[in-house]
Amino acid sequence: MPILLDGNKVRDQILAELKPRVAAMTRMSRPPRLAVVLAGNDPASEIYVRNKVKACQELGIDSEKHTPPQSVSTNELLELVDSLNSRKDVDGILVQMPLPNQVDSKSILLAVSPDKDVDGFHPFNVGNLVSGNPGPHPCTPSGIMELLRRYQIPIAGRRAVVVGRSDIVGKPMALLLLHAHATVTICHSRTADLAAICRQADILVAAIGKAGLIRGDFIKPGAAVIDVGMNRLQTRAEAEALFASCQEKMAQFDRKGSLLVGDLHPLELDCAGAYTPVPGGVGPLTIAMLMSNTVASAEWRLAAAAG
Ligand code: GUN
Repeated sequence: MPILLDGNKVRDQILAELKPRVAAMTRMSRPPRLAVVLAGNDPASEIYVRNKVKACQELGIDSEKHTPPQSVSTNELLELVDSLNSRKDVDGILVQMPLPNQVDSKSILLAVSPDKDVDGFHPFNVGNLVSGNPGPHPCTPSGIMELLRRYQIPIAGRRAVVVGRSDIVGKPMALLLLHAHATVTICHSRTADLAAICRQADILVAAIGKAGLIRGDFIKPGAAVIDVGMNRLQTRAEAEALFASCQEKMAQFDRKGSLLVGDLHPLELDCAGAYTPVPGGVGPLTIAMLMSNTVASAEWRLAAAAG
């Protein structure tokens, strides 16, 4: 049976390590402070932001939430970001993605001051990531690196395949694995013979947002498989397409009216060496690394102020 890579356990370790740093900073000056911008009413974003604010509270980090309406303009958001940039008491700024359609997301990400960019999305920080310089790295891929490190999954010299090429996960994930000396392939929606490429992977990261896409025959025996997907199956037909043969899953669907499924097919992981469950795998790590980036940003600001 594959080993379950427990994201909740690793999150707890990371947060426990951050706690004394937050306490020390609070003693010396003030708690770190994170400003979160949640524009509009995307239900998934609302849940993510709620969990981020809750994690701040548990760790003793101050947070504030700004909730401009769905109709917000690019200029209005730019003004909000500018005001947060200029505040000395704000250490981190997080603009939850996706933004409403009418907003020019790239210009908003460009407006966040790189030294408050706890997501690592600003082109300056993306450049640092590409160059292998220190700096905030995007939270989900850096959380996955922490998970691999803490479970002592070897990376150097291994083949890694990343399925998905988003700016938030796929691209930075590939770069972090490359810096750790893996041989990395990035696949995406137009990749030919995806299964054959995935089967070469010692480390397979699925971040493409398609429920159950990665089946048993995509997995090399013994591989570490990491599931970034969070897909909600809303109709019985969708659930049946994946779980027709599994009474338990269908009963679960009937009870709840929906099913949360990652990009890996959860019933076809037997040949993997290790895997992350959904939920309880990658999700908690994203928040832990956001806390880590926020604390690092606050410490940096405190040290800079001390000269
Ligand atoms: N949307 C999905 N993941 C993320 C993330 O890590 N940060 C932000 N800001 N938005 C997201």
